[in-house]
Amino acid sequence: MAAKQVAATGPDTAWFQRDRFGMFIHWGLYALAARHEWMKHREKVDNATYEKYFKHFDPDLYDPRDWARLAKQAGMKYFVITTKHHEGFTLWDSAYTDYKATNTPYGKDLLTPMVDAFREEGLRVGFYHSLIDWHHAKFGIDRIHPQRDDAAARKADQPNIKEYAEYLHNQTRELLTQFGQIDLLWYDFSYPGKDGKGHKDWQSRKLLNTIRKLMPNIMVNNRLDLPDAPDFTTPEQYQPIATPTDDKGRPLVWEGCQTLSGSWGYFRDEYSWKSVPQLLGMLIDGVSKDGNLLLNVGPTGRGEIDYRAREALEGMGAWMRYNSRSIYDCGAAPKSMATPPDCRLTYNKKLKRLYVHVMAWPFRDIHLPKMAGKVAYAQLLHDASEISFTEATSDMPHDNMRGHVPPGTLTLQLPIVKPKIEIPVIEVFLK
Ligand code: GLC
Repeated sequence: MAAKQVAATGPDTAWFQRDRFGMFIHWGLYALAARHEWMKHREKVDNATYEKYFKHFDPDLYDPRDWARLAKQAGMKYFVITTKHHEGFTLWDSAYTDYKATNTPYGKDLLTPMVDAFREEGLRVGFYHSLIDWHHAKFGIDRIHPQRDDAAARKADQPNIKEYAEYLHNQTRELLTQFGQIDLLWYDFSYPGKDGKGHKDWQSRKLLNTIRKLMPNIMVNNRLDLPDAPDFTTPEQYQPIATPTDDKGRPLVWEGCQTLSGSWGYFRDEYSWKSVPQLLGMLIDGVSKDGNLLLNVGPTGRGEIDYRAREALEGMGAWMRYNSRSIYDCGAAPKSMATPPDCRLTYNKKLKRLYVHVMAWPFRDIHLPKMAGKVAYAQLLHDASEISFTEATSDMPHDNMRGHVPPGTLTLQLPIVKPKIEIPVIEVFLK
């Protein structure tokens, strides 16, 4: 269902649209299975069998300060942690369940030190919270439940969705009252219809009212199955072709969420890891369409972000060190500025600076139609080296050295050799 335009009375989304880049963290008992956070569903594992992960959960190397430093150096400005995923296991010492980190061999609350560590690095805090709960006795077997095809389990099932909704609301209240200012609530997900669950089951309207009362300025995502609620929409594992809009064509606040590999949770034997240029391309592409990127890491059962994720984020950080000016406080360029081939444009409206991200290095020229007379200066962003440009006028002879470009075109003149940086960016200072 299309998300509705953010109501004028909605929370402040300005910080979100300035920061652009966040770390998603999927961490739970599934890290021990090490083969996707949906393994309980895929392998139809019942609670009794899944208990072995609870009994062996002991992330002795867990150091959230390391995670926060890695996020910061990558250029991330906020993070979203799975406080509870579909498996039902909670990272904090919830009063409403025994299925929590404090009752595992690890024996301690994982959430408070994480929130503290990320705040200390200056990042904002987001909580992912699963609406789904495959451990809770009253949740009720349905079409995506691990026991969905188990006739005996369905027969013995004694769901009470009202009781489950109360549990869901109580845990939301804990999350919004025990950890200071939370900037973003990321619910996941509704699947209304036959043998599914939606806003009636979650009592989403009541839940949203509670949230707005407890923390009026928190942003809530679009997965509560409420058409008018979302403060931002969440395209997942794909790059939108344009800025997402509501059913009236109005642009939405949006955040693309993506994995580094094929899994949200730690997956030891999964090898579809995206390259640094691909990851940077997703970030740049999103900002060029007024969107954010929430990029996911899945820490291991020892509590570490593994070397593959670390290398990816370090690679992104190396680019962000030089080019974050083209990401933060930026968004889509005005429609009057045509995007040159193999480029992405971002634009800082306040500074009147256009950023040309050169995704494939051309031979010498990048043409900006109708930009003649509008540019004061241009430079490569990473080393602030000047980029000269010519401007085509109507009286320019056809046989001019640069080939015929329409009058009014501004041509940036690039060095022949691509600079040694993943995706070079040209910073164009407008008059
Ligand atoms: C999908 C996955 C879920 C993950 C979420 C993140 O819903 O099924 O495991 O947490 O995406 O957006």
